[in-house]
Amino acid sequence: MKKILVTGGLGYIGSHTVVELQKNGFEVIIIDNLSNSSEDVLKGIHSISGITPIFEKLDLKEKTKVSEFFDRNSDIDGIIHFAASKAVGESVEDPLLYYENNLNTLVYVLQECKKHQIKNLIFSSSCTVYGEPDSLPITEEAPVKKATSPYGNTKQISEEIIFDLCSVSDLKAIALRYFNPIGAHETSEIGELPLGVPLNLVPFVTQTAAGVREQLSVFGEDYPTVDGSCVRDYIHVVDLAKAHVISLKRLLEGKNTTSFEVFNLGTGRGSSVLEVIKAFEKVTHQKLNYKIVDRRPGDVISVYADTKKANNVLGWKTEGSMEDALLTAWNWEKKVRNIK
Ligand code: WQD
Repeated sequence: MKKILVTGGLGYIGSHTVVELQKNGFEVIIIDNLSNSSEDVLKGIHSISGITPIFEKLDLKEKTKVSEFFDRNSDIDGIIHFAASKAVGESVEDPLLYYENNLNTLVYVLQECKKHQIKNLIFSSSCTVYGEPDSLPITEEAPVKKATSPYGNTKQISEEIIFDLCSVSDLKAIALRYFNPIGAHETSEIGELPLGVPLNLVPFVTQTAAGVREQLSVFGEDYPTVDGSCVRDYIHVVDLAKAHVISLKRLLEGKNTTSFEVFNLGTGRGSSVLEVIKAFEKVTHQKLNYKIVDRRPGDVISVYADTKKANNVLGWKTEGSMEDALLTAWNWEKKVRNIK
């Protein structure tokens, strides 16, 4: 049984990926510093797969402890690296937090890959590397423009660091550029943990519907889009998780054509904020309380993926619709809030 290390494996996308790895017969070991997750997620994973993954609380910024971990776990066949901070707005306010937490930790993990001959790495990247795209849908060949936030910059720099190491070592890597992950597992046993005020749209929508938040603010209705609100590519988190397993298998089976590959993970469809609200009201049969406010600084107008490369090369495509994803998000919210 291949042993896969999942850093940040108790997080939102990480936990859904752990479940898919277990379904595919992989042994999973998780390290997570619990800065944006909870050990309770292990129970949720077990309730879905029947297997509790090995878990070690570890902050990847602690280089010595990272090295000791790998010395104790030298039989790792591959790594899926999620652990990072990912709030765009927070990164603008505290750039050094992001450069330390997202870049230093990546270097420490890569140093261990080199030392222990770990040759397979899946990296959690982001469509934020594209900034405001010149044309849509966005392909992997679109120019990586100057990042619009320190968060986006850490993803750009991370890809470059990994590319450089792959160029001079046996490391093979795939960077997966996510668009906007939403939704939760169909069992409602795992989902996006509500720690603090949600920065992303969908958790704010579901918390407003649950009465946890008074009202949703829609950041701008004067953009040059179908209805004036920003457009994004909302992808079901389970579809995203499945792409990680497919990508990992691609490396383990030596099917990669270059040592560093990049794939956009989206649905290929753009949806405006107001369209998301309408879809949520449709699937939940309830009106959402929202108001239009000023634009949010740093928002790109419209971004959605060209998925041909992931479809044709990975053999992966999204299965669920945005409505399906919104319903799973709502079911998860109701479970968390004990709403019937
Ligand atoms: C989506 C739209 C907002 C909240 C995210 C992640 C980032 C990266 C890309 C992975 C925007 C609007 C939001 C609200 C609103 N993912 N909005 N009211 O900014 O596209 O970035 O996906 O790397 O890490 O943050 O997602 O959900 O914040 O915003 O109107 O209360 O919803 O203006 O148009 P974003 P988001």
